[in-house]
Amino acid sequence: MSTYSDASRTEDTANGTTDETILEITDLEKHYVKSAGWIQSLFTDDKRVRAVDGISLSIDKGEIFSVVGESGCGKTTLGKTLLRINEPTGGSIRFKGKDLATLSRSEMQQLRQQMQIVYQDPFEALNPKRTIYGLLKQPLEIHGINTPSEQRARIEQALTDVNLLPVNDFLDRYPEELSGGQLQRVLFARALVLNPEFIVADEPSSMLDASVRARVLDLIDELRHERNISFFIITHDIGAARYLSDRIGVMYLGRIVEMGDADHLIDDPKHPYSRALIESIPSPDPTEPLETAGIGSEVPEPVDLPSGCRFHPRCPLATEHCKSVGPEWRTVPSEDETTRWTECHEVEPVHRP
Ligand SMILES: Nc1ncnc2c1ncn2[C@@H]1O[C@H](COP(=O)(O)OP(=O)(O)O)[C@@H](O)[C@H]1O
Ligand SMILES: [Mg+2]
Repeated sequence: MSTYSDASRTEDTANGTTDETILEITDLEKHYVKSAGWIQSLFTDDKRVRAVDGISLSIDKGEIFSVVGESGCGKTTLGKTLLRINEPTGGSIRFKGKDLATLSRSEMQQLRQQMQIVYQDPFEALNPKRTIYGLLKQPLEIHGINTPSEQRARIEQALTDVNLLPVNDFLDRYPEELSGGQLQRVLFARALVLNPEFIVADEPSSMLDASVRARVLDLIDELRHERNISFFIITHDIGAARYLSDRIGVMYLGRIVEMGDADHLIDDPKHPYSRALIESIPSPDPTEPLETAGIGSEVPEPVDLPSGCRFHPRCPLATEHCKSVGPEWRTVPSEDETTRWTECHEVEPVHRP
Protein backbone atom coordinates (compact mmCIF):
# COMPACT_ATOMS: atom_id res chain seq x y z
CA MET A 1 0.00 0.00 0.00
CA SER A 2 2.76 2.39 -0.89
CA THR A 3 1.54 5.93 -1.23
CA TYR A 4 5.05 7.22 -1.85
CA SER A 5 6.17 5.63 -5.04
CA ASP A 6 9.90 5.22 -5.14
CA ALA A 7 9.81 6.35 -8.77
CA SER A 8 8.89 9.85 -7.61
CA ARG A 9 11.95 10.08 -5.36
CA THR A 10 14.75 12.00 -6.97
CA GLU A 11 17.57 10.50 -4.98
CA ASP A 12 20.86 12.30 -5.06
CA THR A 13 22.97 10.42 -2.52
CA ALA A 14 23.45 6.90 -1.19
CA ASN A 15 21.09 7.90 1.63
CA GLY A 16 18.34 8.61 -0.89
CA THR A 17 17.96 12.26 0.20
CA THR A 18 15.17 14.29 -1.41
CA ASP A 19 13.77 17.79 -0.82
CA GLU A 20 11.13 16.17 1.31
CA THR A 21 13.64 14.51 3.63
CA ILE A 22 12.91 14.78 7.37
CA LEU A 23 15.71 12.61 8.69
CA GLU A 24 19.02 11.67 7.16
CA ILE A 25 21.64 9.47 8.74
CA THR A 26 25.09 8.95 7.27
CA ASP A 27 27.49 6.16 8.28
CA LEU A 28 25.74 5.98 11.63
CA GLU A 29 27.51 3.82 14.20
CA LYS A 30 26.75 2.67 17.71
CA HIS A 31 29.37 0.38 19.17
CA TYR A 32 29.10 -0.79 22.77
CA VAL A 33 32.11 -1.85 24.77
CA LYS A 34 31.54 -5.27 26.26
CA SER A 35 33.75 -5.56 29.27
CA ALA A 36 35.68 -8.83 29.39
CA GLY A 37 35.36 -9.07 33.21
CA TRP A 38 38.45 -8.70 35.36
CA ILE A 39 39.82 -12.25 35.20
CA GLN A 40 39.24 -12.56 31.46
CA SER A 41 40.62 -9.08 30.94
CA LEU A 42 44.07 -10.47 31.93
CA PHE A 43 43.97 -12.48 28.70
CA THR A 44 41.78 -10.47 26.31
CA ASP A 45 40.83 -6.87 25.59
CA ASP A 46 37.34 -5.47 26.00
CA LYS A 47 35.25 -6.33 22.96
CA ARG A 48 33.31 -3.99 20.75
CA VAL A 49 29.71 -4.88 20.05
CA ARG A 50 29.00 -3.38 16.62
CA ALA A 51 25.26 -3.06 17.17
CA VAL A 52 24.92 -0.40 14.44
CA ASP A 53 27.84 -0.45 12.07
CA GLY A 54 27.70 2.20 9.36
CA ILE A 55 24.12 2.83 8.23
CA SER A 56 23.06 5.52 5.76
CA LEU A 57 19.45 6.21 4.87
CA SER A 58 16.92 8.98 4.73
CA ILE A 59 13.23 9.22 5.52
CA ASP A 60 10.75 11.54 3.83
CA LYS A 61 8.10 13.69 5.46
CA GLY A 62 5.01 11.55 5.95
CA GLU A 63 6.84 8.36 4.95
CA ILE A 64 6.63 5.06 6.81
CA PHE A 65 9.96 3.24 6.76
CA SER A 66 10.27 -0.14 8.44
CA VAL A 67 13.38 -1.97 9.47
CA VAL A 68 13.12 -5.75 9.68
CA GLY A 69 15.57 -8.38 10.87
CA GLU A 70 16.16 -11.09 13.44
CA SER A 71 16.37 -10.45 17.16
CA GLY A 72 19.76 -9.01 18.14
CA CYS A 73 20.61 -7.53 14.74
CA GLY A 74 20.55 -3.96 16.12
CA LYS A 75 17.07 -2.63 15.29
CA THR A 76 16.33 -1.11 18.71
CA THR A 77 19.83 0.35 18.94
CA LEU A 78 19.38 1.93 15.50
CA GLY A 79 16.01 3.44 16.49
CA LYS A 80 17.41 4.92 19.71
CA THR A 81 20.61 6.13 18.11
CA LEU A 82 18.93 7.96 15.26
CA LEU A 83 16.94 9.92 17.86
CA ARG A 84 20.16 10.50 19.81
CA ILE A 85 18.67 8.74 22.86
CA ASN A 86 21.83 6.67 22.50
CA GLU A 87 24.85 8.79 21.72
CA PRO A 88 26.27 7.63 18.34
CA THR A 89 29.88 6.47 18.27
CA GLY A 90 30.23 7.58 14.65
CA GLY A 91 28.47 9.13 11.66
CA SER A 92 25.92 11.92 11.51
CA ILE A 93 22.21 12.57 11.94
CA ARG A 94 20.39 15.45 10.27
CA PHE A 95 16.82 16.21 11.28
CA LYS A 96 15.07 18.72 9.02
CA GLY A 97 18.48 19.71 7.73
CA LYS A 98 20.04 20.32 11.18
CA ASP A 99 23.06 18.29 12.21
CA LEU A 100 22.12 17.03 15.68
CA ALA A 101 25.74 16.88 16.84
CA THR A 102 26.03 20.66 16.53
CA LEU A 103 23.01 21.46 18.73
CA SER A 104 23.30 22.70 22.30
CA ARG A 105 21.50 20.86 25.09
CA SER A 106 18.60 23.29 25.05
CA GLU A 107 18.30 23.20 21.26
CA MET A 108 18.31 19.40 21.39
CA GLN A 109 15.67 19.45 24.14
CA GLN A 110 13.51 21.72 21.98
CA LEU A 111 13.88 19.43 18.97
CA ARG A 112 13.08 16.33 21.02
CA GLN A 113 9.42 17.29 21.00
CA GLN A 114 9.40 16.74 17.26
CA MET A 115 11.06 13.30 17.42
CA GLN A 116 9.48 10.76 19.72
CA ILE A 117 9.80 7.05 20.48
CA VAL A 118 7.06 4.56 21.32
CA TYR A 119 8.55 1.64 23.22
CA GLN A 120 7.73 -1.99 22.71
CA ASP A 121 6.12 -2.99 25.98
CA PRO A 122 3.36 -0.77 27.39
CA PHE A 123 3.39 -2.64 30.71
CA GLU A 124 7.02 -1.70 31.19
CA ALA A 125 6.81 1.80 29.73
CA LEU A 126 3.85 3.10 31.76
CA ASN A 127 4.05 3.83 35.48
CA PRO A 128 1.15 1.83 36.99
CA LYS A 129 0.68 4.36 39.80
CA ARG A 130 -0.30 7.22 37.49
CA THR A 131 -3.64 7.84 35.85
CA ILE A 132 -3.81 8.16 32.07
CA TYR A 133 -4.11 11.94 32.53
CA GLY A 134 -0.99 11.96 34.74
CA LEU A 135 0.93 9.81 32.27
CA LEU A 136 0.12 12.11 29.36
CA LYS A 137 0.84 15.26 31.38
CA GLN A 138 4.37 14.13 32.22
CA PRO A 139 6.02 14.76 28.82
CA LEU A 140 4.30 18.16 28.64
CA GLU A 141 5.80 19.15 32.00
CA ILE A 142 9.23 17.94 30.95
CA HIS A 143 9.00 20.25 27.94
CA GLY A 144 7.73 23.24 29.92
CA ILE A 145 4.14 23.14 28.69
CA ASN A 146 2.58 23.92 32.05
CA THR A 147 -0.62 25.87 31.37
CA PRO A 148 -3.45 23.61 32.62
CA SER A 149 -5.82 24.56 29.80
CA GLU A 150 -3.20 23.83 27.15
CA GLN A 151 -2.27 20.55 28.85
CA ARG A 152 -5.90 19.52 28.94
CA ALA A 153 -6.48 20.46 25.29
CA ARG A 154 -3.42 18.56 24.09
CA ILE A 155 -4.24 15.47 26.15
CA GLU A 156 -7.84 15.40 24.92
CA GLN A 157 -6.71 15.83 21.32
CA ALA A 158 -4.14 13.04 21.62
CA LEU A 159 -6.66 10.63 23.16
CA THR A 160 -9.10 11.51 20.39
CA ASP A 161 -6.44 10.92 17.74
CA VAL A 162 -5.74 7.43 19.09
CA ASN A 163 -9.46 6.69 19.40
CA LEU A 164 -9.68 6.33 23.16
CA LEU A 165 -13.22 7.71 23.32
CA PRO A 166 -15.07 9.19 25.03
CA VAL A 167 -11.96 10.86 26.41
CA ASN A 168 -13.53 11.45 29.84
CA ASP A 169 -13.87 7.70 30.33
CA PHE A 170 -10.09 7.29 30.19
CA LEU A 171 -8.54 10.30 31.94
CA ASP A 172 -8.84 9.03 35.51
CA ARG A 173 -8.19 5.38 34.86
CA TYR A 174 -5.01 3.47 35.70
CA PRO A 175 -3.00 1.32 33.28
CA GLU A 176 -4.15 -1.93 34.93
CA GLU A 177 -7.76 -1.08 34.04
CA LEU A 178 -6.97 -0.99 30.29
CA SER A 179 -6.47 -3.75 27.74
CA GLY A 180 -3.16 -4.31 25.93
CA GLY A 181 -4.46 -2.62 22.78
CA GLN A 182 -5.71 0.39 24.75
CA LEU A 183 -2.35 0.69 26.54
CA GLN A 184 -0.54 0.66 23.21
CA ARG A 185 -2.79 3.58 22.20
CA VAL A 186 -1.88 5.41 25.42
CA LEU A 187 1.79 5.03 24.46
CA PHE A 188 1.07 6.64 21.10
CA ALA A 189 -0.99 9.38 22.77
CA ARG A 190 1.93 10.11 25.09
CA ALA A 191 4.12 10.72 22.06
CA LEU A 192 1.41 12.74 20.28
CA VAL A 193 0.86 15.32 23.05
CA LEU A 194 4.15 16.89 21.96
CA ASN A 195 2.99 17.24 18.32
CA PRO A 196 5.91 15.24 16.89
CA GLU A 197 6.76 15.11 13.19
CA PHE A 198 8.71 11.87 13.43
CA ILE A 199 8.04 8.78 15.55
CA VAL A 200 10.15 5.67 16.09
CA ALA A 201 7.86 2.78 17.04
CA ASP A 202 9.66 -0.30 18.41
CA GLU A 203 7.69 -3.48 17.69
CA PRO A 204 4.37 -1.60 17.97
CA SER A 205 2.20 -4.64 17.42
CA SER A 206 4.24 -7.48 18.83
CA MET A 207 2.58 -7.76 22.24
CA LEU A 208 -0.93 -7.80 20.81
CA ASP A 209 -3.23 -10.47 19.44
CA ALA A 210 -4.13 -10.49 15.76
CA SER A 211 -7.27 -8.31 15.66
CA VAL A 212 -5.86 -5.68 18.04
CA ARG A 213 -2.60 -5.73 16.11
CA ALA A 214 -4.41 -4.87 12.87
CA ARG A 215 -6.11 -1.90 14.56
CA VAL A 216 -2.82 -0.55 15.88
CA LEU A 217 -1.32 -0.77 12.39
CA ASP A 218 -4.33 1.13 11.03
CA LEU A 219 -3.83 3.75 13.73
CA ILE A 220 -0.26 4.34 12.52
CA ASP A 221 -1.49 4.71 8.96
CA GLU A 222 -4.17 7.20 10.07
CA LEU A 223 -1.65 9.27 12.03
CA ARG A 224 0.56 9.45 8.98
CA HIS A 225 -2.30 10.64 6.79
CA GLU A 226 -3.96 12.97 9.27
CA ARG A 227 -0.92 14.47 10.96
CA ASN A 228 1.66 13.85 8.20
CA ILE A 229 3.92 12.16 10.78
CA SER A 230 6.88 10.16 9.48
CA PHE A 231 7.40 6.78 11.10
CA PHE A 232 10.42 4.57 11.58
CA ILE A 233 8.93 1.21 12.49
CA ILE A 234 11.02 -1.53 14.03
CA THR A 235 9.52 -4.93 13.54
CA HIS A 236 10.29 -8.60 13.08
CA ASP A 237 6.85 -8.96 11.47
CA ILE A 238 7.30 -8.86 7.69
CA GLY A 239 3.52 -8.85 7.11
CA ALA A 240 3.09 -5.72 9.24
CA ALA A 241 6.05 -4.06 7.54
CA ARG A 242 4.60 -4.69 4.10
CA TYR A 243 1.10 -3.60 5.09
CA LEU A 244 2.27 -0.29 6.53
CA SER A 245 5.44 0.80 4.86
CA ASP A 246 6.48 2.76 1.84
CA ARG A 247 9.99 1.38 2.05
CA ILE A 248 11.69 -1.39 4.00
CA GLY A 249 15.27 -1.85 5.14
CA VAL A 250 16.49 -5.35 5.94
CA MET A 251 19.01 -5.35 8.78
CA TYR A 252 21.67 -7.95 9.48
CA LEU A 253 24.33 -7.66 12.20
CA GLY A 254 24.44 -3.89 12.40
CA ARG A 255 24.07 -3.18 8.67
CA ILE A 256 21.17 -2.55 6.30
CA VAL A 257 21.82 -5.20 3.65
CA GLU A 258 18.89 -4.35 1.39
CA MET A 259 16.53 -1.39 1.05
CA GLY A 260 13.72 -0.58 -1.35
CA ASP A 261 10.01 -0.18 -2.02
CA ALA A 262 8.07 -2.35 0.45
CA ASP A 263 5.93 -4.35 -1.97
CA HIS A 264 8.68 -4.90 -4.52
CA LEU A 265 11.28 -5.86 -1.94
CA ILE A 266 9.01 -8.48 -0.41
CA ASP A 267 7.84 -9.85 -3.76
CA ASP A 268 11.33 -9.95 -5.20
CA PRO A 269 14.03 -9.86 -2.52
CA LYS A 270 17.52 -9.65 -4.02
CA HIS A 271 19.80 -10.29 -1.04
CA PRO A 272 20.02 -13.94 0.07
CA TYR A 273 19.40 -12.86 3.68
CA SER A 274 16.23 -10.97 2.72
CA ARG A 275 15.05 -14.06 0.87
CA ALA A 276 15.60 -16.30 3.89
CA LEU A 277 13.93 -13.79 6.22
CA ILE A 278 10.88 -13.37 4.00
CA GLU A 279 10.43 -17.13 3.77
CA SER A 280 10.77 -17.57 7.53
CA ILE A 281 8.01 -18.22 10.03
CA PRO A 282 7.82 -15.44 12.57
CA SER A 283 7.06 -16.08 16.22
CA PRO A 284 4.76 -13.50 17.87
CA ASP A 285 7.48 -12.79 20.43
CA PRO A 286 10.20 -10.56 18.93
CA THR A 287 12.81 -11.89 21.36
CA GLU A 288 12.30 -15.44 20.07
CA PRO A 289 14.51 -16.41 17.15
CA LEU A 290 12.82 -16.65 13.78
CA GLU A 291 12.83 -19.97 12.03
CA THR A 292 14.78 -18.53 9.20
CA ALA A 293 14.40 -20.67 6.10
CA GLY A 294 17.52 -22.58 5.12
CA ILE A 295 20.06 -20.57 7.13
CA GLY A 296 19.37 -21.74 10.70
CA SER A 297 18.18 -19.57 13.57
CA GLU A 298 21.59 -18.91 15.12
CA VAL A 299 22.46 -15.23 14.70
CA PRO A 300 26.15 -14.57 15.41
CA GLU A 301 26.95 -11.96 18.10
CA PRO A 302 27.98 -8.62 16.65
CA VAL A 303 31.44 -9.04 18.23
CA ASP A 304 34.19 -10.82 16.28
CA LEU A 305 32.32 -10.26 13.04
CA PRO A 306 33.14 -12.61 10.18
CA SER A 307 35.69 -11.34 7.66
CA GLY A 308 34.50 -10.15 4.26
CA CYS A 309 30.72 -10.20 4.00
CA ARG A 310 29.34 -10.61 7.50
CA PHE A 311 26.57 -12.86 6.19
CA HIS A 312 28.91 -15.33 4.43
CA PRO A 313 28.93 -18.08 7.14
CA ARG A 314 25.14 -18.49 6.72
CA CYS A 315 24.85 -17.63 3.05
CA PRO A 316 23.88 -20.31 0.53
CA LEU A 317 25.55 -18.32 -2.28
CA ALA A 318 28.87 -17.49 -0.56
CA THR A 319 32.05 -17.81 -2.61
CA GLU A 320 35.73 -17.53 -1.60
CA HIS A 321 35.56 -13.84 -2.58
CA CYS A 322 32.74 -13.24 -0.06
CA LYS A 323 34.91 -14.62 2.75
CA SER A 324 37.59 -12.02 2.27
CA VAL A 325 36.04 -8.91 0.70
CA GLY A 326 33.09 -7.00 2.10
CA PRO A 327 30.46 -6.06 -0.49
CA GLU A 328 29.69 -2.44 -1.35
CA TRP A 329 26.36 -0.70 -0.77
CA ARG A 330 25.06 -0.11 -4.29
CA THR A 331 21.92 0.09 -6.39
CA VAL A 332 21.03 -3.03 -8.35
CA PRO A 333 18.74 -3.37 -11.35
CA SER A 334 15.16 -4.14 -10.47
CA GLU A 335 12.40 -5.11 -12.93
CA ASP A 336 10.12 -2.40 -11.57
CA GLU A 337 10.95 1.32 -11.68
CA THR A 338 11.89 1.59 -8.02
CA THR A 339 15.38 1.94 -6.64
CA ARG A 340 16.81 -1.08 -4.89
CA TRP A 341 19.91 -0.85 -2.74
CA THR A 342 21.82 -3.87 -1.56
CA GLU A 343 25.21 -5.07 -0.46
CA CYS A 344 25.95 -8.50 -1.87
CA HIS A 345 28.58 -9.65 -4.38
CA GLU A 346 26.32 -12.28 -5.83
CA VAL A 347 23.32 -10.08 -6.68
CA GLU A 348 24.01 -8.97 -10.27
CA PRO A 349 27.75 -9.62 -9.83
CA VAL A 350 30.03 -6.74 -10.72
CA HIS A 351 32.75 -7.93 -13.14
CA ARG A 352 35.79 -9.02 -11.15
CA PRO A 353 39.24 -9.49 -12.64
N1 LIG B 1 23.38 -1.32 26.35
C1 LIG B 1 24.02 -2.31 25.69
N2 LIG B 1 25.28 -2.69 26.03
C2 LIG B 1 25.92 -3.66 25.36
N3 LIG B 1 25.40 -4.33 24.31
C3 LIG B 1 24.14 -4.01 23.92
C4 LIG B 1 23.38 -2.99 24.60
N4 LIG B 1 22.16 -2.89 23.98
C5 LIG B 1 22.16 -3.81 22.99
N5 LIG B 1 23.34 -4.48 22.96
C6 LIG B 1 23.74 -5.53 22.00
O1 LIG B 1 23.62 -4.96 20.71
C7 LIG B 1 23.10 -5.93 19.79
C8 LIG B 1 21.84 -5.37 19.15
O2 LIG B 1 20.80 -5.29 20.12
P1 LIG B 1 19.37 -4.65 19.82
O3 LIG B 1 19.58 -3.30 19.24
O4 LIG B 1 18.56 -4.74 21.04
O5 LIG B 1 18.80 -5.63 18.69
P2 LIG B 1 17.30 -5.91 18.21
O6 LIG B 1 16.43 -4.77 18.62
O7 LIG B 1 17.41 -6.09 16.73
O8 LIG B 1 16.88 -7.19 18.86
C9 LIG B 1 22.87 -7.21 20.60
O9 LIG B 1 24.01 -8.04 20.43
C10 LIG B 1 22.77 -6.72 22.01
O10 LIG B 1 23.21 -7.71 22.91
MG1 LIG C 1 14.66 -4.75 19.76
